[in-house]
Amino acid sequence: MNVYDSDRMADILAPLGYEPTEQVGQADMVILNTCHIREKAAEKVYSELGRMRSLKANRKADGQDMILAVAGCVAQAEGEEMLRRAPYVDMVVGPQSYHRLPELIAQLSRQGNHVLDTDFPVDSKFDHLPRNDRASGPAAFLSVQEGCDRFCTFCVVPYTRGAEFSRPVDHIVAEAQDLRDGGVREITLLGQNVNAFHGLGPDGKDWGLGRLIRELARIEGIERLRYTTSHPRDMDDALIEAHAEVAELMPYLHLPVQSGSDGILTAMNRRHSADDYRRIVDRLRRAVPDIALSSDFIVGFPGESDQDFADTLRLVTEMNYAQAYSFKYSARPGTPAAVLDNQVPEAVKSERLAMLQELLNAQQMAFNQACIGRTLPVLLERRGRDDNQLVGRSPYMQAVHLSLPAVARQRMMGTIQPVVISAAHPNSLSGRVALDAAAFDGGGGTVGPNPASVNGTLGGSA
Ligand code: 5AD
Ligand code: SF4
Repeated sequence: MNVYDSDRMADILAPLGYEPTEQVGQADMVILNTCHIREKAAEKVYSELGRMRSLKANRKADGQDMILAVAGCVAQAEGEEMLRRAPYVDMVVGPQSYHRLPELIAQLSRQGNHVLDTDFPVDSKFDHLPRNDRASGPAAFLSVQEGCDRFCTFCVVPYTRGAEFSRPVDHIVAEAQDLRDGGVREITLLGQNVNAFHGLGPDGKDWGLGRLIRELARIEGIERLRYTTSHPRDMDDALIEAHAEVAELMPYLHLPVQSGSDGILTAMNRRHSADDYRRIVDRLRRAVPDIALSSDFIVGFPGESDQDFADTLRLVTEMNYAQAYSFKYSARPGTPAAVLDNQVPEAVKSERLAMLQELLNAQQMAFNQACIGRTLPVLLERRGRDDNQLVGRSPYMQAVHLSLPAVARQRMMGTIQPVVISAAHPNSLSGRVALDAAAFDGGGGTVGPNPASVNGTLGGSA
């Protein structure tokens, strides 16, 4: 979501004459868009600010200025404190008020002093942002929901991003159409708790995420849809049905469980048990047999015993993830878990994280290896590190590398091609385009569990 927000900040500053630069030392304004989710992320901000401080001093010495702004959730959480700790910062702006950047710049030039805006305005920033039609490739993010009302006891999001808010369906559809007009083929719907989406539909009723996905899938040219991040409690029937029935909805789901222990899940205020999660995954796999599953895990939550951790390993073994993210518990100021007195020692957290990651990495490698020999539809998104390479995504979110002659690279960039997978790596796949490139026109179908059906679907448009 910070990537999406950063792009929108660039959009809102463009009418003032600002444009992005790769040369940070020559920038008239630098905005650090920040994340507060774990301590490590938040600490990075201050070390990066130190670097910006000297760049700003260099510019001053050359008689030029640099506005230094901090945006995002660290700005929201630290507020005034940030201006005390780093007084050379000119502007502190929270994630719900960055649409006011032009006003804040004007205010700064009037006052010549610090400006701070960490409000949660009554009217949404989305009503004030310019249209998002600046597609920068065939795959794009689209924010549909923000904030969270779930209050997991470890998490800062409900405090930094604020209460749940869902954008109206017609605004989302209009943004998706604009992205499509700019060449976008795949859209990832974003929200801190995206499957809690309940936006106002064109019929005046509340629409859930499943309904929204069906509507977006009807837009000609949008060939792939994804969404992230979800809470297990908000996986409703309509959403699971959409997985079964909407071909554009990719067979991949990031569904964080955090822990496999019921005691820890209760202490985390997740409001579901490990078995509830097993049942949800069961239903999803019945709806989409080849669905690739991803998750987030926290090890070393306060009070986590060896048995609790063993329950997590057992759940992971049963679920068989295609990929996952795992973190050591990080006490976040202001959250209920931070003041619990049964914190887990750092060494224990490190040991558990290493064990969990070993298991998850093995599952990911096995998942990638099982793709060898299959033909997967790959959306070719960008150039690779080698000149003759293109990189795309499989339906299961794996990065796929392929080498192609220049003419084919140009023609196939931004299209979906059938790719025969020839090798698997820990974090990616390699392959080659399956059909005679000249005869193939691109295509959008999802891949079934049987490789033969893939060739059938894609070959049909050749
Ligand atoms: N400590 C460690 N990990 C955390 N996450 C959120 N808060 C914390 C924390 N205090 C992780 C969760 C969440 C992901 C985005 O970050 O796993 O799903
Ligand atoms: Fe944080 Fe997600 Fe829990 Fe909301 S549901 S409080 S965003 S971990």
